Amino acid sequence: MQRLDKLLAGTGKWSRREVKLLVKQGRVLADGAPAPSSEEKYDPETVMLTVDGENVFWRKHTWVMLNKPDGYLSATEDGKGKTVLDLLPPDLQKLELFPVGRLDKDTEGLLLLTDDGQTAHRLLSPKYHVDKVYYARVDGCLEEVDCRAFEMGMTIGDGLVCRPAGLKILTAGAQSECLVTLREGKFHQVKRMLAAQGKPVIYLKRVAMGKLTLDEKLRIGEFRLLTENELNMLRGNMEDT
Ligand code: URA
Repeated sequence: MQRLDKLLAGTGKWSRREVKLLVKQGRVLADGAPAPSSEEKYDPETVMLTVDGENVFWRKHTWVMLNKPDGYLSATEDGKGKTVLDLLPPDLQKLELFPVGRLDKDTEGLLLLTDDGQTAHRLLSPKYHVDKVYYARVDGCLEEVDCRAFEMGMTIGDGLVCRPAGLKILTAGAQSECLVTLREGKFHQVKRMLAAQGKPVIYLKRVAMGKLTLDEKLRIGEFRLLTENELNMLRGNMEDT
């Protein structure tokens, strides 16, 4: 059983305070009858809720797509600095969401936050074949030999072997732009792979995870909930090996 305010706030559409007001105004119906209080408890799996006559679809888990800015840690707590959770409103912060994998503090772009540990784990595991795609700008001129090195599976740092990865050159010159596709997430992997080719990264942004791409309408620092379609797409991405 869950309190009505928590249940409706979990959809991301209303804050708990707004739910209280909606209930007071008689705009929330539970199984056809006006909900008596925002503190009333219901079984989320079975209750039929409407707000202003519109059905509310409850989800067991919350999934947020964030366009992560530079300067925020992909963590739930940090003694000193700002974390990506600081970018969410208090009602979403209360849901104990965590980032699905890490982006470096200075990396921007697609970061998912959820309270669904099992799906999050699968998204990150190489076993489930979910590609992560990064846009990178580097110092130096990218060439075909760099693409071949990525394809072969590079060794970086202290003998750390990377799985074969994709490198697509977008522009080449004194600085170059590219898309890097990985199926794993070793520490600073994109930066280390490109640095190993002598092309240090000067800007990095994640643009896709599997078929899910960063919503271009989200400005840096903005977020929205995943749609049902996007969630199905993510789950559909995870073929077992
Ligand atoms: N690879 C990196 O080097 N940094 C990131 O933030 C993500 C992938």
